[in-house]
Amino acid sequence: MTSIQSPVDESNRAENSADGKLTVEGSTYDLPIYKSSIGPAVVDISRMYAQSDMFTYDPGFTSTASCESKITYIDGGNGILLYRGYPIDQLAENGNFLESCYLLLYGDLPNKDQFSDFENRITRHTMLHEQMHSFYKGFRRDAHPMAIMVGVVGALSAFYHDSTDINDPVQRDVASLRMIAKMPTIAAMAYKYAIGQPFVPPQNSLDYSANFLNMCFSVPAEEYKRDPVLARAMDRIFILHADHEQNASTSTVRLAGSSGANPFACIAAGIACLWGPSHGGANEAALSMLEEIGSVEHIPEYIKRAKDKSDPFRLMGFGHRVYKNYDPRATVMQKTCHEVLDALGARDEPLLQVAMELERIAREDEYFIEKKLYPNIDFYSGITLRALGFPAEMFTVLFAVARTVGWIAQWKEMIEDPHQRIGRPRQLYTGPTQRDYIPENQR
Ligand code: CMC
Repeated sequence: MTSIQSPVDESNRAENSADGKLTVEGSTYDLPIYKSSIGPAVVDISRMYAQSDMFTYDPGFTSTASCESKITYIDGGNGILLYRGYPIDQLAENGNFLESCYLLLYGDLPNKDQFSDFENRITRHTMLHEQMHSFYKGFRRDAHPMAIMVGVVGALSAFYHDSTDINDPVQRDVASLRMIAKMPTIAAMAYKYAIGQPFVPPQNSLDYSANFLNMCFSVPAEEYKRDPVLARAMDRIFILHADHEQNASTSTVRLAGSSGANPFACIAAGIACLWGPSHGGANEAALSMLEEIGSVEHIPEYIKRAKDKSDPFRLMGFGHRVYKNYDPRATVMQKTCHEVLDALGARDEPLLQVAMELERIAREDEYFIEKKLYPNIDFYSGITLRALGFPAEMFTVLFAVARTVGWIAQWKEMIEDPHQRIGRPRQLYTGPTQRDYIPENQR
């Protein structure tokens, strides 16, 4: 098995660094600049505070690299996404999800033996501890499945004590495989619990995505008809969501992990962050928006609202913090959407007509062109997932299933980084200066 390199290679860094200078209020500071293999270089400001007694300020991290990484690269201006150097469209077109998992975790595409060994190891971990079944029963039936995911994934650390020692590379690897393997089982059980159907155990003869669909949609009363086109679409959706460098949930996982927290707790933190509508919740929001628009003649009204500063409405599934061009995942997602609807004989799905017309109008509109707002992955994923049979509450759960490998690969990289320290941002304090306590009867 390929071993992951330490993210910080000292000789490489020395070779690829340059001296920078920053002058602030008349004082000049020497700040090293590190060149990247592709993309922007970084200015190392880690000694800035010691030298200048000043912090840097960058809310939302728009200009701050929080770590060094060799996993995923995004060029937002040109709409490029690479996993370990491989373009996302090539991986989605030619590979499968478990192969991308191996690539993200270990750095290279597996050969035949490596893949079969990896698949075998993942397959051996798909079942969930039997006692965890009772854990589900503590949730209300109408609980949001993301709330269940946060709880159940956090609880894994209470069940798998033999893989929580973060200082043991073998335990780190076992925890990683366990999480990739168990996440579909946990997600399918959250779904089955919500709809009051019995849990369906994993079937190791099926591939990763076919097994997931089977756990979600088969029932003991009748045979479930598996459709390879739908399983392939699910697999592709998983590939598209597998990693996205230092996004909010991944940064959350890294930050949680920087304190030495166990990997299950860190992934639970990532799931909690992903739930927000600006991140993983956007596909659910995009589908609701398309349903609300309802038909193509209502589109101009919603375009007008999206442009109106006094209206909080935004076109969900449009715009991205990093992509200022077409999201490369959206291209594959749009194609997958058409394939799924064709396979299901639902080519005339009215929401698809609304989505395509909305995209066409927005892409010709000066407001969206000027602000570089293009459809993102979530624009077509809601329609596709609904066609696959999932209710909207499950959309973010599916994102979490796929993103687990990215989170865990980034977490491992952080733990293996010799320069890793607890993440502890500073602040620009603008609150009251020191004042004395006032007794209650004098306030
Ligand atoms: N509809 C209308 N206007 C928009 C939209 C939109 N979807 N997105 C951004 N804008 C405008 C925004 O009003 C602002 O205008 P101005 O400069 O005049 O104030 C400008 O574009 C820049 O927006 P921003 O909010 O400063 O940009 P950001 O980088 O902070 O936000 C975003 C990125 C994804 C949160 C935002 O585009 C958005 O809210 N989009 C809708 C939600 C969505 O689809 N999210 C999924 C992201 S992809 C999934 C993932 O990778 O997690």
